[in-house]
Amino acid sequence: MSRVVVAAAYGGPEVLALVEEEPGTPGPGEVLVEVRAAGVNPADWKTYTGAWGSDPARLPLRLGFEAAGVVLAVGPEGESFAPGDEVIAHPVQGAYADHLVVPSADLVPKPAGLDWARAGGLMLAGTTAVHAVAAAAVGAGDTVLVHGASGGVGAMVTQLAHHRGARVIGTASPANHEYLVDLGAAPVAHGPGLVDRVRALTPSGVHAVIDTAGTDEALDASVALVSDRRRVATIANGVRGTELGVRVLGHGPGGDPGTEVRRAARRLLAELAGSGRLTVRVGATYHLADVARAHRAGIAGRVVGKIVLVP
Ligand SMILES: NC(=O)c1ccc[n+]([C@@H]2O[C@H](COP(=O)([O-])OP(=O)(O)OC[C@H]3O[C@@H](n4cnc5c(N)ncnc54)[C@H](OP(=O)(O)O)[C@@H]3O)[C@@H](O)[C@H]2O)c1
Repeated sequence: MSRVVVAAAYGGPEVLALVEEEPGTPGPGEVLVEVRAAGVNPADWKTYTGAWGSDPARLPLRLGFEAAGVVLAVGPEGESFAPGDEVIAHPVQGAYADHLVVPSADLVPKPAGLDWARAGGLMLAGTTAVHAVAAAAVGAGDTVLVHGASGGVGAMVTQLAHHRGARVIGTASPANHEYLVDLGAAPVAHGPGLVDRVRALTPSGVHAVIDTAGTDEALDASVALVSDRRRVATIANGVRGTELGVRVLGHGPGGDPGTEVRRAARRLLAELAGSGRLTVRVGATYHLADVARAHRAGIAGRVVGKIVLVP
């Protein structure tokens, strides 16, 4: 049997429960994975808190879009993987479980140099960051403003933009400014006066912005600082982003899901993280049975770095 986290109703983390289910047998092109770590992302609680609707027909919901684990069995035509292979699964649905049947196309090999927790928390933030950096056309010599640079996606964006030869200015709470410096960014506090603080750091201007914070303040500051709105991308505020005519990324209304660029980024991300050129900071790990506690910490913004569930 597999222990699986489900949301049996819409609500707060109290609706989350651990149930037992048959993991199933891998069919053609599928693989059975024993999960060692599953990444926690804001999308996971948005699924059941009503942020993305509350259609009762969708209940019970399975949670979790990414995991890392070991291949246990391979179905017909799933020959690209073999039992014992260490893999990262993304994008998947229902990664909060100790076993998972997934299409082999959703797997990439886990590098030996990457531990389970980092591997489990790498891909959703990493692929989103690759998409955002590409959408904002970040390149060498650019000065890029990253809103929410201390967050899961923001930390990835910051490192990837830095690797591309851009100068990064990142917003975060003052307590996280040292972390931003470690990531390669010049830190600045969010809050009133943001535009002036950024201008003081870069008299020659800002070329591109990536918003992972999703506040109106972040987007309004972005269009005040950058003349070309095609170089402003938001992953977290489609409503204001659409009003302002900036790039809206993701699955929301009018968003660019970037399906191909994100899928194609997975092997490169694994390679970069496995060789230590990309850091995945794990802020907290929780047992699968403690999922509600993990979500409360995530929703409250108490954890810097990825939250990871271990079965
Ligand atoms: N569209 C997509 O495809 C896509 C993909 C992934 C994620 N997302 C969305 O993107 C957002 C970020 O995801 P994540 O995983 O990076 O979340 P996260 O790890 O929780 O990070 C959020 C960051 O926002 C910062 N923040 C909090 N309040 C802020 C404020 N008032 N102004 C500016 N920054 C503030 C926090 O920084 P401090 O604590 O330092 O203040 C924190 O580091 C979420 O809404 C998520 O659902 C969208």
